Amino acid sequence: MTEKTIPGSAPLPSREAVEQAFREAYEIGRAVTITGKVADYIPELAKANPRDFGIAMLDGEGHSLAFGDADTRFSIQSVCKVIILAFSLKVKGFRETFSHVMMEPSGDAFNSILKLDTRSNLPFNPLINAGAIQLVSTMAERFSFEDLLGFARELCMDPEICLNEAVYHSEFDSGDRNRAITYLLKSKGVLRGDPEKTVDLYFKLCSMAVTARSLASLGLVISNDGVNPISGEHLIDREYVRTIKSLMFTCGLYDSSGRFGVMVGVPGKSGVGGGLMCAARGPMGIGLYGPALDEFGNSVAGVKAMEHLSRRLNLHVFDY
Ligand code: DON
Repeated sequence: MTEKTIPGSAPLPSREAVEQAFREAYEIGRAVTITGKVADYIPELAKANPRDFGIAMLDGEGHSLAFGDADTRFSIQSVCKVIILAFSLKVKGFRETFSHVMMEPSGDAFNSILKLDTRSNLPFNPLINAGAIQLVSTMAERFSFEDLLGFARELCMDPEICLNEAVYHSEFDSGDRNRAITYLLKSKGVLRGDPEKTVDLYFKLCSMAVTARSLASLGLVISNDGVNPISGEHLIDREYVRTIKSLMFTCGLYDSSGRFGVMVGVPGKSGVGGGLMCAARGPMGIGLYGPALDEFGNSVAGVKAMEHLSRRLNLHVFDY
């Protein structure tokens, strides 16, 4: 097949070139799993195999690729913050959502309490723990876990997403820092609703069991302006998708978002369960699973594989 060109942008590689790049990215990622460590502050996560690695891709024509552990279920963890943000935008709109949370990178760890205590009343952004918890507090009275689970299943095109009970109980038992964040928000008068109900719903959302394929589908919907290109279903407003992608780009990998932006340049969101979800051009969704993490809580294999894919396929947003 010959290379296709979109006027005014970098050439789109052929399907064969895409497949070859994914194969290489898988090998490169798998080789670095040895350099990371699985999360253990939630004891259940420590049971993951640090050598696991899988990549899945889904494009706008329904063409998919999968390598390695692409069907292994793992807890979504912080990738759920994108779903929480999308749900909040959908049910409350832009203005109300951003009356509860700011849109600035924090430059701190995902579970940091520092700036929330010293610099502002509102959490810095919806993709750190404080911001996600704040948005969940605005929903916990009106919406149930099942409501958000249903939305997650649609976005991920995966009706089998369910609650991983063991991870949920482990989060519940070890979640004192998140409780501290929740009560700090309450003490500042910004938390809405009941703190225990809020934190419980947040733990459940982080414990949804997904696969790299589910994350690729989520990435595809985001890269396709909120429309599932397979079913034609309109799941998120285009204007909200722009906001979500902007926040993923600037805040999606926590205090490593700047490096990911430079080296990869694709809106992404990571989770300490080892998941990484990316919304690339094409449209193309990429889901990665590698539970061995770097010091920032991002999948070492996932990040390395994305660096390769970005270079090989000209995925960097400033390449086109
Ligand atoms: O609240 C927590 O700490 C976890 N449930 C989620 C954190 C997370 O995934 C951060 N990711 N890189």
